[in-house]
Amino acid sequence: MNHYALIPAAGTGERLGGNIPKQYLPLRGKPMLFYSVQRLCASPRIKRVYVVLAHGDERFSQYDWRAFAGKLAPLYCGGATRAASVLNGLLAAKAEIAADDWVLVHDAARPCLNAELLEKLLNELCDDGVGGLLALPVADTLKRADSAERVLRTEPREQLWRAQTPQMFRYATLVRALQAMQNAQVTDEAGAIEGLGLQPRLVASDARNLKITHAQDLPLAELILNGMERA
Ligand code: CTP
Ligand code: MG
Repeated sequence: MNHYALIPAAGTGERLGGNIPKQYLPLRGKPMLFYSVQRLCASPRIKRVYVVLAHGDERFSQYDWRAFAGKLAPLYCGGATRAASVLNGLLAAKAEIAADDWVLVHDAARPCLNAELLEKLLNELCDDGVGGLLALPVADTLKRADSAERVLRTEPREQLWRAQTPQMFRYATLVRALQAMQNAQVTDEAGAIEGLGLQPRLVASDARNLKITHAQDLPLAELILNGMERA
């Protein structure tokens, strides 16, 4: 059984602002996308790493990706939503991936994934019947607000987790799940799998695997990447 990785990188990074899509913003002198590509390509357990780019993306080809030759495969088939980009990428790679093969979907906007967490995910899910995702138990106290941003009540945080990526599922199941959810709002692969009535497994992660959404997340990611380099 093979493992493949797929990195959706066809978003525009609206919440971050700026004049280029966030996956190309510089982090320690490299485009953000570089770090997810590097991490996944470095795993000998992953056979190929697909990157889903927007149609007409002109930035990807301006960088030097030769270090990942033979393993990295760009697909210019992004969709209107993250789920559409993932589904388009999976269908474009259909000739290479078998129904039972594992696919790890990982955000271009999570550049700080470390090797230990990736290994942990692969190890904990390799014999799983469904698959699952890296996730983090909620630590903060949760408040439900009204429309005036006043607290309505405190919500229990027990058994609440924050979903991260990679999210790892079998190729055919994931395609079926995403096709079934095409008109629904799902923001991650696990959400689509849940729509089939299946229960993805939660693999405990940590806060370093953050997603870069707002400009204030960028210096934090640089600090984490600097720390990883020193370790
Ligand atoms: N993504 C994608 N295709 C889309 C939308 C998002 O491939 N149509 C990708 C992004 O490039 C990113 C990942 O999905 O790697 C997570 O999405 P998000 O953090 O929401 O990125 P954006 O959609 O680009 O940001 P925003 O929602 O702020 O516009
Ligand atoms: Mg988005």
